[in-house]
Amino acid sequence: MADVTFTVDGKKLTAPAGTLLIEACRKAGIEIPAFCYYPGLSLQAACRMCVVRQEKVPKLQTACTVQVGEGQSFITESPEITQARKATIELLLGNHPLDCPVCDAGGECELQDMTFKYGAGESLYVEAKQHREEQKWSPAVYFDRPRCILCYRCVRMCGEGMDVWALGIQNRGASAIIAPNGGDHLDCEQCGMCIDACPVGALTSGTYRYKTRPWEMNHVATVCTHCGDGCKTTLGIRQVNDGAEIVRADNRDKSGINGDFLCAKGRFGFDFVESADRLTKPLIRNAAGKLEPATWEQAIRLVASKFKEVRDRNSDKASSSSIGVIGSNTTTNEENYLLQKFARTALNTNNIDHERTTDYAGFAHALAGTTGRTASLRDTQTAKAVLLIGGNPTEEHPLLAWNLRTNFRLNQSRLYITTDSPIKLERQAIKSLQLPVGLESNGYEAFTEFLNGSDSAIEATSEAKSFREAIEAEESLIVIFGEEYRGQAIESLVKWGLKKAGVKFAYLGDYANSRGAADMGLLPNLLPGYVPVASPAAFTEEYIGLPTAPGKNAVEIFDAAGNGELGALYVVGSNPVATFGVNPAALKSTFVVVQDIFLTETAALADVVLPSASLYEKTGTVTNSYGDVQLAKKAADKAGVKPDFEIIVRIAGGMGIDVKKLVPFGKTNGVSADMGQSRGAQSGEADRHAVWLTANHLEPRLSPFDPLAVLDEIERLIPAYKLDRLNLFGGNDVASEPGFVPVSSIASARDLILPSHDGLFTSGILGAHTVALQELNQYQHQFEHPVVTETAAD
Ligand code: SF4
Ligand code: SF4
Ligand code: SF4
Ligand code: FES
Repeated sequence: MADVTFTVDGKKLTAPAGTLLIEACRKAGIEIPAFCYYPGLSLQAACRMCVVRQEKVPKLQTACTVQVGEGQSFITESPEITQARKATIELLLGNHPLDCPVCDAGGECELQDMTFKYGAGESLYVEAKQHREEQKWSPAVYFDRPRCILCYRCVRMCGEGMDVWALGIQNRGASAIIAPNGGDHLDCEQCGMCIDACPVGALTSGTYRYKTRPWEMNHVATVCTHCGDGCKTTLGIRQVNDGAEIVRADNRDKSGINGDFLCAKGRFGFDFVESADRLTKPLIRNAAGKLEPATWEQAIRLVASKFKEVRDRNSDKASSSSIGVIGSNTTTNEENYLLQKFARTALNTNNIDHERTTDYAGFAHALAGTTGRTASLRDTQTAKAVLLIGGNPTEEHPLLAWNLRTNFRLNQSRLYITTDSPIKLERQAIKSLQLPVGLESNGYEAFTEFLNGSDSAIEATSEAKSFREAIEAEESLIVIFGEEYRGQAIESLVKWGLKKAGVKFAYLGDYANSRGAADMGLLPNLLPGYVPVASPAAFTEEYIGLPTAPGKNAVEIFDAAGNGELGALYVVGSNPVATFGVNPAALKSTFVVVQDIFLTETAALADVVLPSASLYEKTGTVTNSYGDVQLAKKAADKAGVKPDFEIIVRIAGGMGIDVKKLVPFGKTNGVSADMGQSRGAQSGEADRHAVWLTANHLEPRLSPFDPLAVLDEIERLIPAYKLDRLNLFGGNDVASEPGFVPVSSIASARDLILPSHDGLFTSGILGAHTVALQELNQYQHQFEHPVVTETAAD
């Protein structure tokens, strides 16, 4: 749309014709009060709070519905407008309980703020207030009806935003009330988006209510620890005796990759951090075979000496040492990078792997030599067309589902879906094609062949053919797929897409850093950036003594243990014994070290257990499924635990490794700095340095325990991770451009891909330790019903 020029409060403004006045003003820094208006949702014009005076128009107008045009002139503040807004507040407060001192929204309530600004010392309305008891609509959502100002944000958020339509309106006019469509309860996705959209304290959170006041919390922006979408989340933190506790999660400032969206897991599933099951002391198995508490010094000393002993026992052999290492999908990039570097250079082994939920190595191989062919999660907000193959994003990738719905609603994007069972997102699909049930991955491979022109690959019905034709006709397309594709199947799909310039890909992994685990080289045959260990290129100089024969994968590591050939096993943040169904007897003659936040099935078999910090308790970067890198910041604190990064460094130190070789703290490349070098040498230099670094959103490097100290090395050795640091440290997502190198032999061992198929209320090890998600899961089971695929009534 062409730009138009108009005047607001005497200031000339420019905006595309048709922009809502309220939006044009907000962009220009002129705030117009509003209750019912919510960006991205349909217009309601119910509250009249946003009234303004438009030149030549006889009555006050609502800024949330007026579209700007050439030459118009508006006044947004005047005695007349103030009086009108004051009257609106008086009306809203007519039945409002005025219980601000105990209301959860007190201190962050839009009605309270507006009353302070415009209100209303006295009211013309003197009728007795109608009291109603608070209602519990679900374990996550409570409703206090008298506080409701009938702005309908919740109804629109649930219907339009979530496509759930769990909320509606009963009665008419002055008797209208918000109510669940399920009668007295919410049968919904429990996302809590309605709570966050509510401008007052009418909807409150089951996990946060009556716990604290907003001004008593620190607010720390970090990254959700659950699924592979990587929502930015702001954690509300309160100091407690043994550290700092998380009391709330939201993204109300609408910053980051997810805007204001969070799903049930991100919003309510943080209480695992305070679980009574948390490990808070190192444990060592005693002579009687029982795990008993020990000091960190004792535990590290024992681990370091055993690792050294096992490594040295095998040093004369040509192959890697007989130590196996299994890393995690939820530890940071820096920790994953350090772990594999420690394994390869300190333990002298390439026997390193992780619980792979998708085949990112296969994806890297398929895309080798290309640029600009991977889609960021942001691309799914605006893409003209998307082909979704397999999976169910509503359950497994809720932010992706939100983006696809919003893009359909606001931009009429074209969504094509191919699945082997119906999914809810089909409501937004322009075309969907159901593959025969039970074919699973083979069916998807056949679908690729069908896309490539083979009519015999699947039943080539006219519906299937028109699906293919419509996709072929798209000039730009994002192809999103998941664990149904592995190894060769990914290659075929990517090959098909690469024939067209406008096709990009996204490959969905399960956990917060599944992608980062693979990118950082937690693989037996591939170094960081998917560089084969057999031809390590730039790594030769940096990784002194790197073994160049591919190591054992996770399954082979346990086979070796079963054969009595594995001297030691080091497991960081994962539970391979449960995941791979390992017989505990297989580990009888192996020295097992597990560092984790809970006593998992694997930890219960260990000789030494080291309590580690969760993702919410440390700083570092994580990479979502789409290659978007974000900074996770330390929010909470737990006495007794240590970040995985520090534990690895301490073990290396205990083994006599030159820690500076492992963590290059002190090296600079122009964007980092070592305060240790300047401190003392020139008085005041360190302080000036710190001021400069803070002003530039950079982190000072003080010690080998600073995880960002290896970020320089990651950037240097992995071309995909040349990150825009000012953006990253400013709290934004930064896309990594893969630039993958060809992988000569891709281990296509399909049995190694073990997707979790987590739903909205489950999340690997963490899900079992969050009471909030468990409660929601049980509550939802009462309402199990088949997926409804007909078009919603919007
Ligand atoms: S929690 Fe989410 S799905 Fe449930 S009513 Fe609120 S907005 Fe709708
Ligand atoms: S519950 Fe909150 S969001 Fe819903 S209509 Fe009432 S005030 Fe608005
Ligand atoms: S969509 Fe994923 S990353 Fe976002 S809040 Fe939910 S679980 Fe967390
Ligand atoms: S915000 Fe405009 S009428 Fe409510």
